Amino acid sequence: MECDFNCKELNKYRADCPYPALKVKRPNKRYGNLLLEAYGGKYSETTAINQYVSHNFYSGDNTDLENAFRYISIVEMHHLDMLGDLIRKLGVRPEFRSSKQNFYWSGCFVNYDTEVKKMIRADIEGEREAIALYKKLISQINDEYVRDVLRRIIMDEKKHIEVLSSLYKKICNSNIKPHRPGC
Ligand SMILES: [Fe+2]
Ligand SMILES: [Fe+2]
Repeated sequence: MECDFNCKELNKYRADCPYPALKVKRPNKRYGNLLLEAYGGKYSETTAINQYVSHNFYSGDNTDLENAFRYISIVEMHHLDMLGDLIRKLGVRPEFRSSKQNFYWSGCFVNYDTEVKKMIRADIEGEREAIALYKKLISQINDEYVRDVLRRIIMDEKKHIEVLSSLYKKICNSNIKPHRPGC
């Protein structure tokens, strides 16, 4: 994906590994439908994008956190784009819904916390749920091309957990009041 954003900065928020080609062994509607869960289900890329955009409004004057929310949301957008392309190639229309027919994506899937530590905890939880979903999809989809893309996405989600966990630790440490003898 070409982007106008500072890609050097963006690279801090994705795994250092090329993305596989976006192709499928052969069209398979069942596999396409399964992938919809990661495209427009509860723990989908659509939820992740909206949650990071929403959390970014409350990153305050913490530039590291603001950058993390902004750039991670862009990486999630790339994931959504790759999944949509695979779903289409598998023979299914990429709609913002889960694998269940007529179960469309909802804004209620997004975490709307505004307190910094709560937001980061919710985001790490969302990343873990996404990884669990991708692992399940890898076990259900017998197409090595699709599996390669899902494995590569997992690498990015792990990177997001790493970045967010490190920011969380920094914020917790900065909240500890220094002990001043005599006070
Ligand atoms: Fe993602
Ligand atoms: Fe992620």
